[in-house]
Amino acid sequence: MATILKLYDSLPWAFRAGVPILLTVGTTTFCHHLFHFNFLEFLGCTYSIGLGFLLLYHFFLFIYRNWVGVALGHNTDLKKLGSWAVVTGCTAGIGEAYSHALAKRGLNLVLMSRSKEKLEKIEREIRELYQVQTKVIPVDFTEGMEIYNGIEEELKDLEIGTLINNVGMSYPFPEYFIDLPHGRKFYRDMLNCNMMSLTMMTAIVLPGMLQRKKGAVVNVGSLTSILDTPFMALYGASKAFVDKFTQDLALEHEEHGIIFQSLIPGYIVSNMSKVKKSNFFVPTPEAFVEKAIQAVGLQSRTAVWLPHQILHACIHIGQFFRRDGAAEVR
Ligand SMILES: NC(=O)c1ccc[n+]([C@@H]2O[C@H](COP(=O)([O-])OP(=O)(O)OC[C@H]3O[C@@H](n4cnc5c(N)ncnc54)[C@H](OP(=O)(O)O)[C@@H]3O)[C@@H](O)[C@H]2O)c1
Repeated sequence: MATILKLYDSLPWAFRAGVPILLTVGTTTFCHHLFHFNFLEFLGCTYSIGLGFLLLYHFFLFIYRNWVGVALGHNTDLKKLGSWAVVTGCTAGIGEAYSHALAKRGLNLVLMSRSKEKLEKIEREIRELYQVQTKVIPVDFTEGMEIYNGIEEELKDLEIGTLINNVGMSYPFPEYFIDLPHGRKFYRDMLNCNMMSLTMMTAIVLPGMLQRKKGAVVNVGSLTSILDTPFMALYGASKAFVDKFTQDLALEHEEHGIIFQSLIPGYIVSNMSKVKKSNFFVPTPEAFVEKAIQAVGLQSRTAVWLPHQILHACIHIGQFFRRDGAAEVR
């Protein structure tokens, strides 16, 4: 079943659309011969069978991408893409979990965040625990274009197969856009940190990946990119950029051997979320990252954690019925 699904998924979209249409028409015609439907019954039967096939397909695909594909090893082995990985925002939360998980898989690491002390601490830990090579680059991503020449210089001789664009900042507290403390500086910092960083890091690392015809770029977005987030408008919008940018780059590069993965998680235990204890709905960064790494090569856009994936699906259904806010404005 998994092989059939993988094969089917790799077909061009016209064939993928053709298969369910042929199946639906075939089954309905067969039922028509058995039960001699009138026109309305024929239409109803076609609709129900079509919908049934569609649901079944998505159900099997979901099972395959989350569990069967992983068990069969159809996901991507990041080590095979290049010996180095780069993690931005690596000294806490999700970035720290990525650093440990990648080093555990034998990847050498470029560690990037602001605090030199925290970088040296995690570098020591990783070298002791996993015996891999490391390089630290202290950098503040709220700064503008001027930081990227230096970063490019530091990375130029490394065979980078994996880039984790994780760094991001949120609001200190929910607030009207116009009332944010230090408004204009805050807007600039957030756009630089959440959007410019992954644009420029991708621009720096991608040419090497294209030359080697392999690589994975993981961009950490958020469920807020598709949820309504009043009083966090700029954060939600910056994460929508991350998601859209990643999906389109994935399409641009699917023929070139480069994987782009857009992560759109809900709450995860971290300093940023201010959630201290994990539960069924809020994973630890370690649990989240383990699942996210397993999903590389199987899921190009995912909320990763099962309850977040279900929430994601519910949001999509809910958006179909959403009221238009503009209609309320008199
Ligand atoms: N936690 C959640 O619930 C959640 C949910 C959805 C999406 N996300 C996204 O996941 C990513 C990581 O979030 P997190 O919760 O793991 O955050 P976190 O625990 O606050 O960690 C942030 C990391 O980024 C570094 N950092 C912060 N500002 C930086 C800057 N200006 N320049 C360089 N490094 C900087 C921090 O180290 P230094 O302080 O040393 O610089 C730290 O290593 C973010 O993009 C966030 O939007 C988080």
